[in-house]
Amino acid sequence: MAKTVKCGDLNMPTVGLGTWEAKDEAELETALNTALEIGYRHIDTAAAYENEHLIGKVLQEWFSSGKLNREDLFIVTKLPIQGIHRDRVQKYLESSLEKLQLDYVDLYLIHFPVGKSETSAEYESEDHEGVWKNMEKQVDEGRAKTIGVSNFNIDQIDRILKFARIKPACLQVELHVFLQQPELVDFCHQNGLVVTAYSPLGNPGYNKFLKKVGVEERQDLVNVLTDPVISEIAQKHNKSNAQVALRFLLQKNIVVIPKSVTPSRLKSNFDLYDFELDDEDMKKIEELNVGEHVRICDWRIFPNIDQQPEYPFARK
Ligand SMILES: NC(=O)c1ccc[n+]([C@@H]2O[C@H](COP(=O)([O-])OP(=O)(O)OC[C@H]3O[C@@H](n4cnc5c(N)ncnc54)[C@H](OP(=O)(O)O)[C@@H]3O)[C@@H](O)[C@H]2O)c1
Repeated sequence: MAKTVKCGDLNMPTVGLGTWEAKDEAELETALNTALEIGYRHIDTAAAYENEHLIGKVLQEWFSSGKLNREDLFIVTKLPIQGIHRDRVQKYLESSLEKLQLDYVDLYLIHFPVGKSETSAEYESEDHEGVWKNMEKQVDEGRAKTIGVSNFNIDQIDRILKFARIKPACLQVELHVFLQQPELVDFCHQNGLVVTAYSPLGNPGYNKFLKKVGVEERQDLVNVLTDPVISEIAQKHNKSNAQVALRFLLQKNIVVIPKSVTPSRLKSNFDLYDFELDDEDMKKIEELNVGEHVRICDWRIFPNIDQQPEYPFARK
């Protein structure tokens, strides 16, 4: 079983299953069944991943066979950018719940701080306060146990903390050995937010995704799986590079949600508690942090999104 961390009043497993780009039905079903057998209890999805209905189907099978109860799981989904409007939060969460065949999610996240029209490519002026009040309403009315944000920067989280009646319980953001964001992580921990690392392996499959959506592949992507410093530490502990990269984040009190549809990887990505990186290992990995310019998921596959006032990252 994965260890847990407090997320609001809930116990959130510190290792979860990412599911972005997992939408082939047979592949995802096999992966989910394998992951649940291994012991994963935290599943990360989003309306934008177009796989909530597949996840819902598998979960129902586990509930109806009596192998799992709803309260054994920690399910996270996200408000898509078309839903970032004070009048649309409930509609999008209800749609996610219907697909997931659930009465509630454990954590509902605003996926990105920039909102977009439902009917055109236009961006909309974001109203974070109005949206947050409607996120709080989802907790009041039982559709979400806790709420949080994703891809928000320090200023944006700070603003929410000032007007929130229910504080954000979690920030989900890109974090891996090459983009460690220590200032953002410290700010969240000091303010009681769990930090969840997405792309915790630096998403080795990212160029495959860019190719699929017709965007030029990137030559500047970093690679956790072949990095010599990580390889040396992995050899020392008789672990894989992926395990070392994930374990580093866990030791920083960061939750990890590696995505895989490969059974052997699902297993090894979950086997993170039987070894410990020592101070020297941690220091060597801290030195791998190159910062902002290795960001993988900068969202600029949405044209001109970086021109929007609430674009959260450095404008390149
Ligand atoms: N909030 C957001 O905006 C946001 C953005 C991105 C991601 N996320 C969430 O975070 C999750 C994880 O991030 P991610 O999918 O971008 O990247 P990731 O988990 O860092 O990497 C996933 C890729 O690594 C491969 N992989 C997994 N384990 C491996 C291992 N042990 N050895 C070698 N390769 C391995 C997977 O391949 P196979 O599947 O073929 O095994 C897949 O191509 C997502 O799935 C999603 O749930 C959230």
